Order: sequence, then C-alpha cells, then structure tokens
Amino acid sequence: MARSLETTLGSLRLKNPVIAGAGEHLMTASGIRAAVDAGASVVVAKSFNESEAARDQLDRTDYALIDSNFQRLPWDFSPPRDATLACRSGLTRVSFDEWLETIVTLDREAAKSDCIVAANIILADLDAAVDMARKVEQAGVRLLEFNFGTPYGDEAGGAVSTERATDRVTEIVSAVTSQIDIPVWAKITGQSENVTSLVRAAQDGGADCTVLMGRYMGLVPDLDTMAPLLDTYLGIGGAWSLPLTCYWLSRTRKTLGPDVPLIAINGGRSGHDVARFMLAGAHAAELCTAVMTGGFRVIEDAVTELSSYLDKQDRDAAQIIGLAADRVKTFQELPLRPGFWEGFVPPETLSDL
Ligand SMILES: Cc1cc2nc3c(=O)[nH]c(=O)nc-3n(C[C@H](O)[C@H](O)[C@H](O)COP(=O)(O)O)c2cc1C
Repeated sequence: MARSLETTLGSLRLKNPVIAGAGEHLMTASGIRAAVDAGASVVVAKSFNESEAARDQLDRTDYALIDSNFQRLPWDFSPPRDATLACRSGLTRVSFDEWLETIVTLDREAAKSDCIVAANIILADLDAAVDMARKVEQAGVRLLEFNFGTPYGDEAGGAVSTERATDRVTEIVSAVTSQIDIPVWAKITGQSENVTSLVRAAQDGGADCTVLMGRYMGLVPDLDTMAPLLDTYLGIGGAWSLPLTCYWLSRTRKTLGPDVPLIAINGGRSGHDVARFMLAGAHAAELCTAVMTGGFRVIEDAVTELSSYLDKQDRDAAQIIGLAADRVKTFQELPLRPGFWEGFVPPETLSDL
C-alpha cells in the first residue's frame, strides 16, 4: 500500500508536504489554478504590499538562468537541475481589493481539492501590514504567509524588508498574530549569522510556523561587458542553496526541538529535494524557482517522486522528518584517522614527507 504523504504544520493538516512558493508564476488566477491542479497542498499567491515602490519594481524586473561557468542558459522551461537563477523581482500591480478577491475565490475553489491558497504579505510599513492582515482574515482566507525576509531589503528603498534583528522579528510577528486568528507563517531571511535565533523570535511572536529561508544577494561580473549581469545586485539561488537551508533546519531542530513546525524553502528542485528537506527537519517544503523556470508539471512530478521514495523507504512522510538531522555527529564524535588528509592533496604536497 502507498505510504501516506500527509503532514501536520501546527493546526493545519496538509495532504502532502509539497507547497508552491510565491513567485511571478503565481501572480494570476490561471497560474494559481495550475498549481492547485498540479497537486500542491498549499499554493502561496504572489505577494502584495502597500508600497508603490514595490509595484514599480515589477516593471524593472529581469531574470537570468546561469550555468556553473556563469554563462546564460536559455529560458526554455527545461533548465538543468544545477542552473542558478539570478534576478530582481517586484510585487503585483493589481489593487489590494482585486488581489484579495482573487485569493478568496481561488481558496474556496482549492478547498474542493484539499488545497489551500494562502495570501502572502511582504512587510514594508508595519501598520499597513497589520491592517491588510486583518482584511485578509475578514475576507475568509484561511492562511497568511508574512514575508519579512526578502533578499532585497537593503536595495529596495523600504519597498520590502530583510529583518535580521530578533527583537524586531518578535515585534512584527506579534503585531500581526495578536490581531488575527488564522495561522500565520513567518518567512525569514537566510542572510543572518544565526537563522535559528530568527526562528525562535518568530515563534515567540506567535507564528504558527516558520518558513526558512530567503535567498541571498549576489553580483555576477560579466567578462565580455565588464559590467554586472543584469546591471545590478541580484537575488540568487540554485540547487546549491539546499545544503545551506538543510544546515539551518537541522541546527534549528537541535536547538528548539522537534515540535517547532518548520517549512523549508530555498534550493528545492524536486520531490527528492523535498525528502532531503524533511530529513533535515522540515515538516513541509516550498518550491518556487523550480516551478517558475520548469513549469507547473514540476509540482506533479515532485509529489510523485516523493511518494515513490516513501514507498521505497517504507515510511510515511511524517515519519522521515528530522531523521538525518538527528544523526548528525559532532566533530568530536568522529573517529581519529591520522594521515587521512594525505589522500586529498596534490602529490607535490607530499613529496618531501
Ligand atoms: C522571481 C521570484 C519572485 C519571487 N516573488 C516572491 C514573492 O512575491 N513573495 C515571496 O514571499 N517570495 C518570493 N520569492 C521567493 C521565493 O518564494 C523563494 O523564497 C526563493 O525563490 C527560494 O526558494 P526556491 O529555491 O524554491 O526558489 C520570489 C522568488 C523569485 C525567484
């Protein structure tokens, strides 16, 4: 019999751990419907905030897929697994009422497929975010993701935020959670020396679940033009981000315990990657770039691949959470192997030994 894909995140039971993470491909009703139809348990709609500057950024966006030699790849919805996405994004241009109405309608529709369409607010002004969160709940939306960990906070002139101070994280999360009863998922930055402390701060603020972690900023100099790729600093991520996310999932589980609900994001490209995130301690995982650059089929394939993996391992999804994290040894626990390093250096290093 097929093993169960169900997972629980705080008060929510999800039919599977594969969540469609917010991005441009989830800015339209048809995009959101495609993600629901592809089998995601939650679809996080493209974010909104009140800032005109954030809307303005949508008309300045640009996107490049690059290979390991920093050469541009074609944008053909079939990228190699190891493609890196370097881009700058912006927020939806529709009015708040239109954005909310679309999510309410689609969330009602999605309920018939045991799926949730979540609203996502990106923090600019806190009072405005709290006001929008109240309206989201009043309109009947069942889930809010609250993102204050975008990569671009230092570049976007207040249009979005990258919150790194724990006190501030607790303050902004509790400002929202104290006003609404629907679950709030706090999406935090990975641009921190201690991501675990940001998870703790979000939980202290009343978050039902923490989504870790936002992408990094990068600069890719182009050898021919001698200019920056796409002319500026870019949000950057790839499959290479997965180990960094898994590290913080595992450290967080170790520090805060197995019961703090964590959602992984950043670096997942497939169903096997969802399994990797779960083994590191995630209760579910979001995929964004993989879907935006590979099409909605990626969600369906991820659910199928995860299901086959669980069948092969003869475990339910909920039973694999944290298995690798709980087997991490300290450096001191590892065996002594004198001279072992010699097998890893060029021969010249050893010539006068
Ligand atoms: C083009 C693009 C647009 C994005 N837009 C949003 C957004 O509107 N709201 C949000 O919370 N995250 C947004 N993100 C961040 C993603 O949801 C996700 O956190 C990040 O891309 C890392 O996950 P991934 O490796 O699965 O892409 C965006 C990312 C990209 C690449």
